[in-house]
Amino acid sequence: MRFISLSKTVVLIGMMGAGKTKVGRLLAQRLGLGFTDADNEIQEAAGCSIEVIFETRGEAVFREGERKVIARLLDGPVQVLATGGGAFQNASTRAVIAERAVSVWLKADFDVLWERVSRRSNRPMLMTADPRRTLADLIEQRYPVYALADLTVVSGAGPVEDTVARVEDALRGAGFLAGAHAGTNR
Ligand code: S3P
Repeated sequence: MRFISLSKTVVLIGMMGAGKTKVGRLLAQRLGLGFTDADNEIQEAAGCSIEVIFETRGEAVFREGERKVIARLLDGPVQVLATGGGAFQNASTRAVIAERAVSVWLKADFDVLWERVSRRSNRPMLMTADPRRTLADLIEQRYPVYALADLTVVSGAGPVEDTVARVEDALRGAGFLAGAHAGTNR
């Protein structure tokens, strides 16, 4: 018996390093639902890494693949879906998400993002002469668009469990989540 039910697929959006994959995986586990990382699906469909797609085919081709993959996943069963940092910036991807899912912006400040993204150097968007500056510029450009999400949840430097609990509370408060976890009051 399911004690907890989600009415729509949850799409996690936000910058690189906001914790979309980690939060998404744990949230899905807590809700007893499937989890998909759109970036992984794009890599599988293309048969190569995102880095290689950007390098050999360019960003526009990547964005089109991203749009198709997300639309396809939103046609499937209710689940938790983590998207790449640029996905929600694309107007048609945003429209498909608005129509079929509930979007949750994991909002993190510069220091939290920088601390996380600087551990990995293979993100094409940050392969610039001054990645700190690029990250700051992307935050400035993208935050007003992320703010169009249905819900906004702060992703802080603390444990991932705290962010997941805030996402659940936000979903419940907005009426997308009903019921309780087995053996808990949440
Ligand atoms: C991108 C973020 C990446 C990936 C691609 C482009 C972006 O995903 O989709 O490198 O434009 O911010 P993460 O946000 O999961 O790192």
